[in-house]
Amino acid sequence: MIARAGPVAPGADTVPGSASPGTGAASTTPRHVAIIMDGNGRWAQSRGLPRIAGHRAGAEAVRRALQAAADHGVEVLTIYAFSSENWRRSEEEVSDLTALMRFYLERELKTLEKERVRLKLIGDYQAFGPDLVARLEKAVERTASNTRLTLVIALNYGSRAEIAAAARTLAQRALDGQLQVSEIDEQRIAGEMQTRELPPLDLLIRTSGEVRLSNFLLWQAAYAELLFLDIMWPDFDETVFVDALGQYASRQRRFGGR
Ligand code: IPE
Ligand code: IPE
Ligand code: MG
Repeated sequence: MIARAGPVAPGADTVPGSASPGTGAASTTPRHVAIIMDGNGRWAQSRGLPRIAGHRAGAEAVRRALQAAADHGVEVLTIYAFSSENWRRSEEEVSDLTALMRFYLERELKTLEKERVRLKLIGDYQAFGPDLVARLEKAVERTASNTRLTLVIALNYGSRAEIAAAARTLAQRALDGQLQVSEIDEQRIAGEMQTRELPPLDLLIRTSGEVRLSNFLLWQAAYAELLFLDIMWPDFDETVFVDALGQYASRQRRFGGR
């Protein structure tokens, strides 16, 4: 399969360029793809089904996306599974989603191991309670040495909270005399992001037809290519993924240059 690039230095988020040589993947293949998996509820509603049926179908789409990302040489797939604002949903929906995550983890851990996928989490996932947290951490531990693909799941993730936490950490370091205020630059801030070990975000996809970021990877998306698709998340499959890669390859990334 794909050869992996070496470790990415902290702060690499700010360094543009998916086309770095020696990654093993063609320069037109995004190294890091993120997806806002939206539209489960509408998918279910249009079929006269309860929202949870849409979330279940959405979990199947995650399997397809993961397989497609691995098969097409993507290094990192980051998926938005639960936002810090999704607690505003009904208690029933939140508990359905939590149960589904537990079920998905239980079922997919073997697949992650077999496919050599490393699991990583971003967001304040501790909020999901000890049982799910223990399962999540077990899956992270068990897959830590896998190198084919990194699957990053954003759970109780909010980009503004991530940026605020980075500001607090750096301010504290300055107060403690470990850092000059003048040394707080883009690289230092990127170094405090939960994505600091990952390659820069190249492509951000949102399904469902909504054209917004909903508090996802605001810092990281500064120079990512954005792709908004009209399909609902449960309809996502390899064909859609390959088409998205094709659209990415046809984009001209300029990073402010000409
Ligand atoms: C995305 O689908 C899944 C989560 C946010 C957890 P939605 O549940 O937001 O589906 P719509 O947007 O209501 O159709
Ligand atoms: C974004 O979708 C969050 C996830 C996909 C997990 P939402 O459905 O929560 O976003 P809004 O409310 O339409 O902005
Ligand atoms: Mg939605």
